[in-house]
Amino acid sequence: MPELRILSFMPPYRHRHRGLTTVRQPWIWFPLMLGCAVVLHLRIAWQLSEARSARDHDDECRPEPIRTILDNFQHLHDLPVVNEQFFRSVPLVRSENAIVTSMYNDAFAVPIATLGHSLNKADSTARRIVFYFPGQVTERALCIATASGFEPHAVSRIEPPADGVFEHFMDQFTKLSIWKFDELGIKAVVYLDADTLVRRNFDELFAMPFNFAAVPDVYFWDPGFDIAFNAGVLFVRTSTKMFHHLVRQINTARYPHGEAEQALLNVFHGADAVRLPYIYNGNLAIKKRNPEMWEALQPELRLIHYTLVKPFWRGVYNETGVEDMHRNVLEKAEAWDGIFRDELLEWEEVWNETRATHRSAFTRCGWKDGH
Ligand SMILES: *[C@@H]1O[C@H](CO)[C@@H](O)[C@H](O)[C@H]1NC(C)=O
Ligand SMILES: *[C@@H]1O[C@H](CO)[C@@H](O)[C@H](O)[C@H]1NC(C)=O
Repeated sequence: MPELRILSFMPPYRHRHRGLTTVRQPWIWFPLMLGCAVVLHLRIAWQLSEARSARDHDDECRPEPIRTILDNFQHLHDLPVVNEQFFRSVPLVRSENAIVTSMYNDAFAVPIATLGHSLNKADSTARRIVFYFPGQVTERALCIATASGFEPHAVSRIEPPADGVFEHFMDQFTKLSIWKFDELGIKAVVYLDADTLVRRNFDELFAMPFNFAAVPDVYFWDPGFDIAFNAGVLFVRTSTKMFHHLVRQINTARYPHGEAEQALLNVFHGADAVRLPYIYNGNLAIKKRNPEMWEALQPELRLIHYTLVKPFWRGVYNETGVEDMHRNVLEKAEAWDGIFRDELLEWEEVWNETRATHRSAFTRCGWKDGH
């Protein structure tokens, strides 16, 4: 194959040269290329300017990025949140309304007693009920939890979906039991997680005609608009029929199972929930997100919700003694650069008052100061 060998030894420029030689005068390429460059340049410039004007037009049409009140708070008025005159005209029947909390382990004995005391101070008119599963809390802890006025009510555990619930949310579906409290003669419930502390009376919630209400959630790491609600504070008109309907959805509705009952309620009631003002769920995340707004809420704030840090929580599920509690509060006061110090000490102050006020009831539970 001699021919092939010759080709393979032929230097590449020879091909090119041969191509070029078809044009006799090589200098003619210079003006030609210059012309092409000018045309190309003009074309690119035109395309860029088209793209820019399309973008400008887009910017004019696109709405401003949404900034919620949490990102753009301005203290513009001090109008009351509740219309007192209207509220006073609605008769409240004490026995038909209840404030309900949940107790899933002994660590919540003291916070529930403290919550009860804070409700007494706020002069709340409703019944108080703490529900629990027999066998999961000790008698002594239940005795402490109910020392300041909550009635104990045993319920059966509502099973979480078969997969994917975070371990610390495994019991949370039992919260749906509150819908069944019509069996106790209760028509309306304000449910409070046990990590709340009441500041002011909120009886006006019982005068609402709606079936379900809650406060939008707040995520300090996620600026923007959040319409999903936090399930730590709920207003519910009871209905056993609705209870069965809800429980049937636990395994069949589409929601992130990991986020338990809050996620289920957000799909179940997402389109019809009444969204309550932030003063009904003083989530500490609000303070982290916008301290100025937190400050402005203070005069009307009905309760504090210790979400980001809990003064009583030591990471163990048994009861906390007095000394441990004080140490824990001081420790937690340092967390988050100390921004929740006032709220944590406020909780401890109410806890101290609870101890002093209900000392004999605590003693009857077999609980002594210092143990
Ligand atoms: C709670 O449990 C811890 C260990 O997990 C123990 O050291 C502590 O004494 C217990 N406290 C009470 C009040 O039982
Ligand atoms: C609560 O009482 C303890 C004493 O048991 C005391 O050391 C602490 O300072 C009190 N806390 C507040 C906030 O008053």
